[in-house]
Amino acid sequence: MIEHRIVSPTKKYIVKASESLLSGNLVAFPTETVYGLGASATNEKGINRIYEVKERPNDHPLIVHISGASKLKLWAREIPEYALDLANEFWPGPMTLILKRTNTAKDFITGGQDTVGLRIPNNEIALRLLREFENAGGLGIAAPSANRFGKVSPTSAQHVESDLGRYLSNSDLILDGGECDIGIESTIIDCTQGKPKVLRPGAISETAIFRINSEPAIFQTKTEKSPSLKIREIKHSGKFESHYSPNAILNLDAIPNPGDGLIAIYQKPTPDGCIRLAAPKNSQEFAQQLYSALRRGDELKLKRIVVLQPEGDEIAKAIRDRLQKAKTK
Ligand code: TXA
Ligand code: MG
Repeated sequence: MIEHRIVSPTKKYIVKASESLLSGNLVAFPTETVYGLGASATNEKGINRIYEVKERPNDHPLIVHISGASKLKLWAREIPEYALDLANEFWPGPMTLILKRTNTAKDFITGGQDTVGLRIPNNEIALRLLREFENAGGLGIAAPSANRFGKVSPTSAQHVESDLGRYLSNSDLILDGGECDIGIESTIIDCTQGKPKVLRPGAISETAIFRINSEPAIFQTKTEKSPSLKIREIKHSGKFESHYSPNAILNLDAIPNPGDGLIAIYQKPTPDGCIRLAAPKNSQEFAQQLYSALRRGDELKLKRIVVLQPEGDEIAKAIRDRLQKAKTK
């Protein structure tokens, strides 16, 4: 099998990756949240390949990654003041803003919706790639998490290679930047209404968002009816019952039996015969280790994994959101 991974890519490989994207190929790259499977956001051929490789339903919209807030207006219109405040405060960072789209954002990116998701990632390799790509004429890199649809997101280049390697072509690349710092996907904030609304919790918490926006600016919409209708129809990860799922049965806050995998904060003991998959010191570490621990459970062919959910707000809330979606009913 071909090895697609380039470890700690030098300038030469960043240029190669950017050229590859411009020709409609795929480049997986690290971000601070999880690895993304990138294609040029204006190249329909490349975008179609993302859907094929991920086996993702093609009305499911993609996040467009850009290098700087100066590129916002290229993709989004009628940007409310509060969205600009959020962008100033948290970008580059683990936050995606949903805004009304311009004509640059075609239906093949947005799943036909009138909005587009935008993000500036806080990862050096991702930013070098984005800058090179934009200097060479690219407008943005669309990138969903680089896993098969509905499965656990990748937090290392090995995860990407093992999930998607066999579906990639000789011209596709995986840029290896080691493990992701945060480990769970970005906070998604709908910015098409009078105030921000969190669609997917993440490392940027609601508390942090409302600290910036104690008095959100009122955003005038032209038509009252259609935007709210759109919001109800909006396609984001929360809509799907099963997501982020390992192959093992995943039970939350249960008592583990011998032979089960266990993921829990380090103070919680491992009962005899259980396989400890992670013992994070705090919620940050919990997020950072969660997906690789679930994957390790699958590699070990465990039948059942028990997770004792972390308590508290902020990122712990986002972890519980993912676990609720990943758990076996
Ligand atoms: O941290 C992240 O956000 C990672 C890294 C690679 O940036 N990306 C990621 O992408 O998690 P993905 O496609 O796996 O999840 C993005 C979610 C999807 O559930 C999608 O439905 C939602 O964002 N989304 C994208 N555009 C949207 C839009 N215009 N309106 C509502 N939801 C949108
Ligand atoms: Mg995903």
